[in-house]
Amino acid sequence: MRTGFLIAFLIATPLLLVGCVSMALPRVPARLTAPAAAPALDGTGLASWETGRDALRQRFADEIYGEAPADEPARIVAHELIEAQAFGGLGRIEQYTLDLSGFETHLAVILPNAATAPVPTIILQMFCGNRTALGGREDIAPPAPGAHAPECDGNVQNVPVRMIFGRYIMEPPITDILAHGYALALVYPGDIVPDEADAAAERLVELVPDRPGGAIAAWAWVYSRVVDVLDGDDRFDDRRTAAWGHSRNGKAALLAGALDQRIDLVIAHQAGTGGTALTRTGVGESVEAITSTYPHWFAPAFAAWADNPEGIPIDQHQLIALLAPRPLLIGGGWRDQWSDPQSSFRAAQGASPIYRLYGSDGLSQTGLDDFDPGADIAMAMRPGLHGVQPADWENFLAFLDAHFATH
Ligand code: GCU
Repeated sequence: MRTGFLIAFLIATPLLLVGCVSMALPRVPARLTAPAAAPALDGTGLASWETGRDALRQRFADEIYGEAPADEPARIVAHELIEAQAFGGLGRIEQYTLDLSGFETHLAVILPNAATAPVPTIILQMFCGNRTALGGREDIAPPAPGAHAPECDGNVQNVPVRMIFGRYIMEPPITDILAHGYALALVYPGDIVPDEADAAAERLVELVPDRPGGAIAAWAWVYSRVVDVLDGDDRFDDRRTAAWGHSRNGKAALLAGALDQRIDLVIAHQAGTGGTALTRTGVGESVEAITSTYPHWFAPAFAAWADNPEGIPIDQHQLIALLAPRPLLIGGGWRDQWSDPQSSFRAAQGASPIYRLYGSDGLSQTGLDDFDPGADIAMAMRPGLHGVQPADWENFLAFLDAHFATH
């Protein structure tokens, strides 16, 4: 009786909560309610844009993210076959043990068995690590001790988290992804820099002794270290490598794409402040809020702008422009005001002049509601709040199919 009540309570409470919050929050307007980003990028010629790119990357390090660790390639310590016929025979699971500048992490790859040529690959950083992403199987390494978010432990805690943040918050829809012909490469960046202020600060000093950066820069660097492994293996198509991330992982995926040209496509879902959303807006999560709650994510210089966010000399449309002309999908939820989809749309518009220098239109849609999967910058909205839902993955796969099938 008591167990029945507990289960009913665990199921009903989050659903009620999500429903109430969702109804209480206004829907994000589909058309712009403020001007696009300052067109600081207009009129730049391609040659001068490309000459200035490294200096712009450095400004993002100086003002926002801090320095990433040095580009020492990943070292493969071990590589094992976990299961040749997993997911009903659709995929093959392998696991690598990697040494990244002296720190250990694991890379789980799942390759589609139907492939007859090098496969396009999606690199995913998930909130709870590889073992959870693969349904809790014991033969997949868990996160390093101390790197683990408590909400990821055990099934009972998992139930409400999944209900609030969506079915795919911890486990991607692997079978669907394999059926579309993509390989997955899963890595848990908390092994390298834990998502906790003190532990992160300690690790960042070890990784970047001269000018310790923020965790997001280090997590972006982890995406690049996975590319090292994939690019050294003929089974993966090195012209079709995508970086995927949700929220904090989306900020890292975007930065990884901006810094590393080997990443061919980025999906930054609900990445918000410090990600795809303009900072100088006063809407959504403020610099003050993000740098006080997550002091370890950014360079100390970013927190110094908390009282004067309008004064920041660079903004996120310039970070998006560093991807040009590679495809970027920005995902959003109609009630997710915190991640401020309108400011992401404005940033995408602001980056588009640089895409046009390469003969691409950049963002082609005129409102947040007319997702065009074939555009080089696209925005895909779905109902609801923050999280990863089935509708999101439909959009991600449509975008991937539109771009990677054309190679
Ligand atoms: C918090 C944070 C956001 C972040 C999000 C997430 O809400 O304020 O900036 O994107 O966590 O990573 O889920």
